[in-house]
Amino acid sequence: MGRGDSLSAPAPEPGFTPTPALPPRAIRHMSLFSTRRRRLLHALAVLGAGTVVTGFSPGMRKPAAPELCATPGAFDTPLLVPGDDGRMGRLAAGGRPVVLRAAPYGRDGGLAFAARADGRDYLDPTLVAGSGSRIAIRLENRLDEPTVAHWHGLTMDTANDGNGEALIEPDRSFDYAFAVRNRAGLYWYHPHPHGSTATQIYRGLFGLIGVEDDDEVKLRAALSLIPGDTEIPLVLHDRRANSSLRYAPSADDLLLGWYGDEMLVNFTPRPYLDVTGRRYRFRVLNAGNARNFRLAFRRDDGTPMPFLLLGTDGGLLERARPCTEVFLSPAERIDVLVDFAGIPVGGYALLESRAFDPMHALPARRAEPNAAPTDASHDMRASTGPSGASPHVADGAPLQLLQFRIRARDAAVSPPPARLSAAPAPLPAGDERPLRLGFAKGRWRINDKVYDMAAAPIVVARGAVETWLIRNYHTSMPHAMHLHGFQFRVLERETSPDPLASLVVDSRGRIATDLGWKDTVLVWPGESVKIAIDFRHPFAGEQTYLFHCHNLEHEDGGMMLRVKVG
Ligand code: C2O
Ligand code: CU
Ligand code: CU
Repeated sequence: MGRGDSLSAPAPEPGFTPTPALPPRAIRHMSLFSTRRRRLLHALAVLGAGTVVTGFSPGMRKPAAPELCATPGAFDTPLLVPGDDGRMGRLAAGGRPVVLRAAPYGRDGGLAFAARADGRDYLDPTLVAGSGSRIAIRLENRLDEPTVAHWHGLTMDTANDGNGEALIEPDRSFDYAFAVRNRAGLYWYHPHPHGSTATQIYRGLFGLIGVEDDDEVKLRAALSLIPGDTEIPLVLHDRRANSSLRYAPSADDLLLGWYGDEMLVNFTPRPYLDVTGRRYRFRVLNAGNARNFRLAFRRDDGTPMPFLLLGTDGGLLERARPCTEVFLSPAERIDVLVDFAGIPVGGYALLESRAFDPMHALPARRAEPNAAPTDASHDMRASTGPSGASPHVADGAPLQLLQFRIRARDAAVSPPPARLSAAPAPLPAGDERPLRLGFAKGRWRINDKVYDMAAAPIVVARGAVETWLIRNYHTSMPHAMHLHGFQFRVLERETSPDPLASLVVDSRGRIATDLGWKDTVLVWPGESVKIAIDFRHPFAGEQTYLFHCHNLEHEDGGMMLRVKVG
């Protein structure tokens, strides 16, 4: 990997001279912390009444959503809204070199990408670039461990993909140089050093990428959307408030995922946002390690607020789609339009995650590898786990995420145009490849395998279009399956479980978010999801990508396979 090559002369791609990959270090995080101030009650209060839900076993019907009351006092911090500098600030990155410095941030173990441009300072900047522009980024590693940045969702050659098979050692740098080949959409960048991805993302080392094109410009004009005002990204994640940002997963956490007890939106706990009575566009990323959200909006009187789904991971849908709720798994993005016009000035609305059965089930922990599965379902209560896990709020618990305070009336804004983007060209039928998600010998696996940097269990011929049939076992968990380097289409869902039943929108079992371009798809226990991937790419020579679960504990634990594309 290049070491501080001149940024003014970015290495050309794809004729980039390959240099030997450094062996990544498997870094263990076994440190335990002696004192844990339990702020459980406080955290539960913040999360809202009704957070404590009794456990239930997989297969049971989802519990009725407890009646959550709007508690205006609980939201006491203005939402961080990204501006033109500072944390998450928008930084024009197309066509000019940018330096990102991965460094410690704050006093509680945080990390951030720092940048400086045009006399402004940024932390975890939102990189903004036009479709077709070129990006040149020097990443300087000022951490005391190796890192590397991956550009999640972008079409990329392996040399620039940051897949973790070459790492940037402390005090070294790497120069990325690539063209933005994607359509407009919200993508993101995050570290990918295998075994340490979870801890580095958890501690705050990630940022957004906003790709823009003509469709995007038209949409903003039609809806008079102004980024930073009426168009706001919402990054959702959770942390364990009682342990700062220390990441010390227990055995249970490693199996089920690291769940926090405090929800953050744009790094803000207990956030509120002052809005006017008009349409707002929110582009939402789930940056949590493991938590799934069942997102919905509602008014303070409890009335649900339907919204329009404008886009998914890979950009705008062909047409806006009315929704009442959407599941958002780790790394997935949605683009939504919400109308506050019907709420009187002084009223409130909420972004919440409704209660759902998270369907966590594992074979008995000490059973033989092939023992019959038993009910070891994850207890939904915030609790100290059997192996000493920190208190946390389990997946599927109801959460109040963000309060909107309607502060003024506003002129009506027209509805979105009938057509947001061109209909995608149909894909030719491809060979079908089965991928089974399961658990054996203490580890989550794909086709019974775990990540091996020396193997390529999936080999795709140059120019191929493939259909992947991803099947998750019944005794399993939902897995957020992500492919590097390519956007795909969801063709079909079969044998979907209860939580999805009411969301199906077509005869192929698909849900609204399946209708757009995707790079991450949540596959529920017992479910089969068929996706189509066009592997044609413009890069010279064979490229290597990764297919993995974006539950970061599963990913670091090896639920990941290499994909060789000719
Ligand atoms: Cu966002 Cu390999 O991941
Ligand atoms: Cu990725
Ligand atoms: Cu998983």
